Amino acid sequence: MELIEIYGSDLVHSHRQEERYEQALALFSEAFGSGPVDVFRVPGRVNLIGEHTDYSQGYVLPVALDRDVLFIARPRTDGTIRLANAEAAFPPESFVLSDAISPAVHGHWSNYVRGASQMMAQRLGATRGMDVLVDGRAPWGIPRGAGLSSSSALTVAAAVALEHVNGLAVDRQVLAEACGYAEWYVGTRGGIMDQFAALLSHQGHALFLDCRPEAGTGRYHTQAVPLPPEYAIVVVNSGVRHRNTSPLFNTRVAEVRSAVALVQQRFPQVRSLRDLEGIPWESYVDLLPEEQSPDDLAQRGISLATLMNGGIMPDSVNLQVRARCRHVTGENARVLAAVEALAQGDVERLAKLMREAHASARDNFDISTPELESLVRLAEEIPGVKGARLTGAGWGGCIVALVPVTSVETFVSRVPQGYQRATGLRAEAFVCSAGHGASRVTEYTRS
Ligand code: GLA
Repeated sequence: MELIEIYGSDLVHSHRQEERYEQALALFSEAFGSGPVDVFRVPGRVNLIGEHTDYSQGYVLPVALDRDVLFIARPRTDGTIRLANAEAAFPPESFVLSDAISPAVHGHWSNYVRGASQMMAQRLGATRGMDVLVDGRAPWGIPRGAGLSSSSALTVAAAVALEHVNGLAVDRQVLAEACGYAEWYVGTRGGIMDQFAALLSHQGHALFLDCRPEAGTGRYHTQAVPLPPEYAIVVVNSGVRHRNTSPLFNTRVAEVRSAVALVQQRFPQVRSLRDLEGIPWESYVDLLPEEQSPDDLAQRGISLATLMNGGIMPDSVNLQVRARCRHVTGENARVLAAVEALAQGDVERLAKLMREAHASARDNFDISTPELESLVRLAEEIPGVKGARLTGAGWGGCIVALVPVTSVETFVSRVPQGYQRATGLRAEAFVCSAGHGASRVTEYTRS
């Protein structure tokens, strides 16, 4: 694709993108010498509604950001992968492509590329390595550590680059699902939303995804959902996030998997919380205690270690089984209603669903923070604003709001001001025009 197709026809915007691409290409040549390269870009995502439902095979409605990571690659003749990064904070690395790649130290940026590479070797037979320059710098890069899936974008970028340099042509759904699994390499047990959003989004649309594959075919139902033109999607980054969210995230995974194991004692056909769709709450709620310790579970023949299957173990002893289940089942219903509301152009209804989703994420799933609460309150004070809610995994990060196009200016100045007054912290607010999924960029120089 060409820059103009990817980023739209705003000339100033495209012009600055050209500079950005040229800088990244120059950095590649500095690191690896001049010569032909392949250029890929992969967006982050913001989720409109459907939080923490994907790893229960539920429904989600993310939007690809128009902020992305650049991944410049040159095929090698051997299986080595050499990595350089435009930012000094991310030191160069190299490793050999294989189906068992050892991880770098926990938290190292290369682990996302390692995980993707191992998956590409294991599942898709990739053998050929590459030299790579990653450029995720501001202002065009995906804000990091903000719950906007910058790590998934890196994983997906490594996968699409390896797909290309190995001459493979992998179905996008197969690749997205495999990239979800590839991220398990770092220890978290996330779902597939971020990788599907990064690969399959369409400009101007949200991506409705049913995370339960169809029996028999293994295909996922996706649908590009048009967004209301009179509203902008505005993201506000609280600038605060729990330092290491992995154990917290996996605690939620443990909680929902425990809920499934408990419900199975009466409903053996239930394989994920999604399968509770259509089964009345009253018929299984007695199986779900408010709190459950790993010992309580063991007494019922349920092993937490088996449920976590090698992932980082939860750091909490009391698993809140009932409230987590209430959130997931309610959230799935809200996503379906939100898609319907969008189809009918009913923004009021969508807003109500987003507000309910926020309340449930806070009260049932316990992933909000005082900073996110402050941002949601401030956003709702701006006239005309619809449905502000926390977005992404939580424990800090961002909120998303539907803001009338005519109020965007007021919103992006007033919300951060109010936030600074209330918390002493700086927030960044930016408009997200729903972007394209991952692409190989074929025209990027000013000629
Ligand atoms: C993270 C995970 C996703 C999803 C969200 C919460 O982004 O990677 O799979 O679970 O959190 O909705």
